Amino acid sequence: MRLPQITDLGDLSGKRVLVRADFNVPLQNGDISDDVRIQRVLPTFEMLQSAGAQVRACSHLGRPAGRAEKSLSLSPVRASLSKLAPGVELLENLRFDPGEVECRDSTVDRLISGCDAFLNEAFGVSHRAHASVVGPPGRLPSAAGPLLVHEVEELLALRTAAPRPFVVVLGGAKLAGKLEAAEALCEIADEVLIGGALCFTFLAAAGHSIGASFYNVEHIDVCREFLRRSGSSTLTLPEDIVGLSASGCIGDPTAGGEVRVFGADLPMGWRGVDIGPATAARFADRIGEAASVFWNGPMGAFEDPRFAFGTRAVAEAVAATPARTVVGGGDSADALRGLGLGEAVDYLSTGGGAAMDLLASGDLPGLAALRSSWRSAA
Ligand code: 3PG
Repeated sequence: MRLPQITDLGDLSGKRVLVRADFNVPLQNGDISDDVRIQRVLPTFEMLQSAGAQVRACSHLGRPAGRAEKSLSLSPVRASLSKLAPGVELLENLRFDPGEVECRDSTVDRLISGCDAFLNEAFGVSHRAHASVVGPPGRLPSAAGPLLVHEVEELLALRTAAPRPFVVVLGGAKLAGKLEAAEALCEIADEVLIGGALCFTFLAAAGHSIGASFYNVEHIDVCREFLRRSGSSTLTLPEDIVGLSASGCIGDPTAGGEVRVFGADLPMGWRGVDIGPATAARFADRIGEAASVFWNGPMGAFEDPRFAFGTRAVAEAVAATPARTVVGGGDSADALRGLGLGEAVDYLSTGGGAAMDLLASGDLPGLAALRSSWRSAA
């Protein structure tokens, strides 16, 4: 069933529209270092305002544990909106209220109070069944914003009709929440290449020694089972790893320490910080031979130039391949833009986890809520 869209909301003149946006933007010393997530919603605000609507926007920022944290205030975003979208009201960080993540009715009540309609324009968080995502559609006439509709179309097209071979590259640090999606992606893609910090849980599950690398002990059994079922045909783990010795510090080359390339086993005390050159070359070859590619997550601690090699190799391969390329996630997009390659991919999604989940399962809680609100209103 199609998603309800702005035009389905009828005449919006004089109405107040609550817009759930994803302004989870990167901040450096309190300043927004990349405002793409703001820029991409501006046309929607303009559309609503020219239809005569008043816009009340809301978003989360970071992961405060249900209480106000000054460093996670949306003030910098509010200041930016006052210039870029005058007249748009922005509520404070939704996650300062514990009812947002817990999806409490009282939070939804407070959020929709005084509003006449709801627009979900927050693709990046539509995989979360949070109050501001799934609550308003049951209470207000609701629709998907144009950006959300576009994101969904792009990712579902990849899911249902990806030209073959279809290669998925997964990295980043957080395995929680990605594991199920990774498993589902193994069914859809021809090959899933795993790098980034999340590879260490898989390497440990495969029996490798991972030294002092970051890993998720609680997911080892699931990864072991996953590897057993998928065999080696679709899932490719690194064959070499860049290690940093115990005295080294990510982000501070002056701290000393040694940097060395190992095979898939790291000695005690060494931390894996990037995929090695052989793995980077292998991943780049696979990307070059693919007909479609989805990439989510950096291959190492790329914020430290010493450990950016793997991420750069993947970014350059994604930019150079003739394949259809879709990139999801702030870090991968940052890496591409940092190399001046942001324009070289076919589609840059504003969602990371959401893009992965939609690709893997074909639906998201935020989308289902919009569709069911429409069904019950019909
Ligand atoms: C993102 O940055 O991927 C989205 O804003 C979702 O954030 P979350 O993972 O904290 O829910």
